[in-house]
Amino acid sequence: MSQDALKKQAAEAALDYVEGGVIGVGTGSTVNHFIDALAGIKGRIEGAVSSSEASTERLKRHGIPVLDLNAAGELSIYVDGADESNAQLQLIKGGGGALTREKIVAAASKTFVCIADESKLVQVLGKFPLPVEVIPMARSYVARELVQLGGTPIWRENFITDNGNLILDVHNLEIVEPMTLEQQINNIAGVVTVGIFALRPADVLILGSAAGPRSLK
Ligand code: A5P
Repeated sequence: MSQDALKKQAAEAALDYVEGGVIGVGTGSTVNHFIDALAGIKGRIEGAVSSSEASTERLKRHGIPVLDLNAAGELSIYVDGADESNAQLQLIKGGGGALTREKIVAAASKTFVCIADESKLVQVLGKFPLPVEVIPMARSYVARELVQLGGTPIWRENFITDNGNLILDVHNLEIVEPMTLEQQINNIAGVVTVGIFALRPADVLILGSAAGPRSLK
């Protein structure tokens, strides 16, 4: 099966978690499959809070109402992809650059259902370059601090986040203590969000595999 078919399989399996009310919807190619599948049961939900302009547009194209998080209150579930997950369901996210809104919507949701193909499950996080969203004037300063933490930050040139900020992708990290590193990077002045989701990990990870979807909790 292709990687895309495995993403679609995981995305469709996540429909079992949709019970109604307002749900959170993430960003990326796996979530795009989820949005397309959600369209088939859209009568079951009141609407969605979206983590990016791209997902908002796709949801609206399917006639799914998109709500402001401030008007929605606590969300029953948040469905989103990941760039990497370890067995504790701690994640690296932000490959698509939407990490800040993703972290907000994940934090505001009761259950975080992560969907991915099985290649995203790793022993130790960090092979995928860690995205960090930074305020533009702090780019060089934050990069120097990230070097102090052992990483090699590369500016994602010609990319502006939905919030008007920049992304540094940090290479060569072996993230053995995700919660500690998440806090350390969060504490650097000028960092808006780091793409480690360990303080609020996923609650369920649905992996697409040749043998069918499997869930880790
Ligand atoms: C978006 O910013 C990311 O966090 C995505 O959730 C992540 O990159 C997974 O993307 P794919 O579903 O496209 O693999």
